[in-house]
Amino acid sequence: MNLIHSRLFPVVAVSLAAASLSFAADQKSVTYAQQVRPVFEKNCFKCHGPEKQKEGVRFDSLADILSHDKLVRPGDSAGSGLIRVARQFGSGTGKHRKVKATPLTPGDLTLLKTWIDQGAK
Ligand code: HEC
Repeated sequence: MNLIHSRLFPVVAVSLAAASLSFAADQKSVTYAQQVRPVFEKNCFKCHGPEKQKEGVRFDSLADILSHDKLVRPGDSAGSGLIRVARQFGSGTGKHRKVKATPLTPGDLTLLKTWIDQGAK
């Protein structure tokens, strides 16, 4: 028993270290260029990108996103219209009720919120 225990210890220690590393990675800073733009590209560019800009909104330019009143309020995800719209997206309600789309994943929604709360850089 003692032998097994001592053999397993390094394995447990290594996996604990790996778990805390990935936790640290989750906490790192979120930027438009690195993590956020790809989410928009996948889900939104078709109607709000280089070709079309429904409602005059385009998500391929950070400067343009920030130019819309209350769409994204840096540091305040709760006061940002984007989060409400993004939550309803694909649900058949809200602004996009006529749009057939796959909802954003919980991970993508968290990413958008974190990005805004970190200052929407
Ligand atoms: C298939 C086309 C389509 C896709 C894909 C799409 N939208 Fe839209 N979006 C629209 C249309 C159409 C409107 C205008 C709706 C209306 O006001 O009737 C709109 C409006 C908006 C508005 C303006 C809402 C307001 O308050 O005026 C925002 C913000 C928005 N979309 C965000 C997004 C985001 C974020 C995504 C991706 C997650 C997305 N859209 C994907 C078609 C689309």
